[in-house]
Amino acid sequence: MAFFFTFIETQNSMDTSFQPIGVFDSGYGGLTILKEFLNDLPGYDFIYLGDNARAPYGSRSFEVVYEYTLQAVKKLFEMGCPLVILACNTASAKALRSIQQHDLPLMDPSKRVLGVIRPAVESIGEYTSNGHIGILGTVGTVLSDSYPIELGKFAGGKVVQTTQEACPIWVPLVENNEIDSPGTEYFVAKNIRNLLAADPEIDSIILGCTHYPLLLPVIRKFVPENIHILEQGKVVSSKLVEYLVRHPEMDDKCSKSGSVKYYTTENVETFEKNASTFIGREIKGEKIVLK
Ligand code: DGL
Repeated sequence: MAFFFTFIETQNSMDTSFQPIGVFDSGYGGLTILKEFLNDLPGYDFIYLGDNARAPYGSRSFEVVYEYTLQAVKKLFEMGCPLVILACNTASAKALRSIQQHDLPLMDPSKRVLGVIRPAVESIGEYTSNGHIGILGTVGTVLSDSYPIELGKFAGGKVVQTTQEACPIWVPLVENNEIDSPGTEYFVAKNIRNLLAADPEIDSIILGCTHYPLLLPVIRKFVPENIHILEQGKVVSSKLVEYLVRHPEMDDKCSKSGSVKYYTTENVETFEKNASTFIGREIKGEKIVLK
């Protein structure tokens, strides 16, 4: 069994029968999404790409996030992915629409790029009773107003008030594996206090950044139990399963040998160590350059 996985994981990505689903994030956060994909779609092939060298994206300008995300999408297409999931809210907020509308038709109209904001927005109606929603996200996601805009359109008319809180320190804490440090508690408590003070009626919070589920035990300490916390992993994964059922032509393009390859733009050893902890299984990584 061990030999089987080692063999598959070292397959050459230029092999044309290897057509994995690409999962992209600025760093480790997208692993919280990939983990659910691996549960729900165990037979499929995946490539995970973390741009750890340039993370965090959260405070970068629209132009820079768009440029970096486009580089990653192009690379994943070159590696054979017919479908790429931007497992990053910042990239979904700032780059997805331009890539879908402008770049994809020029690069390869037969390929697809999907994001993570819409699935969370479509699901929140199931959890809220009073329509008061809190969003925790990066500066970029919050400033883009993607959540309030999408909640207004796709939450089934159930959302009456959306309150956002940007948490600029949280991603660097995760990227530097400081999850259990006392400093993390300080910043998590502070941002949650701000959010709940801005709207004390909030009954559901969306973790609008894929890094944040890695901080969930700390977040839960400061969020009252009656408030529902929506993590994106499960909802994004079930929407992907539905998408593949609705689009058999895309499903046919995705190869299915149950393999996963991991790439990082930073130091491979550090990536392997942290990613293995975050995803809960030993992984082997490879270095990649984005330009
Ligand atoms: N995980 C990302 C997100 O969902 C990235 C955040 C960052 O790089 O700042 O927004």
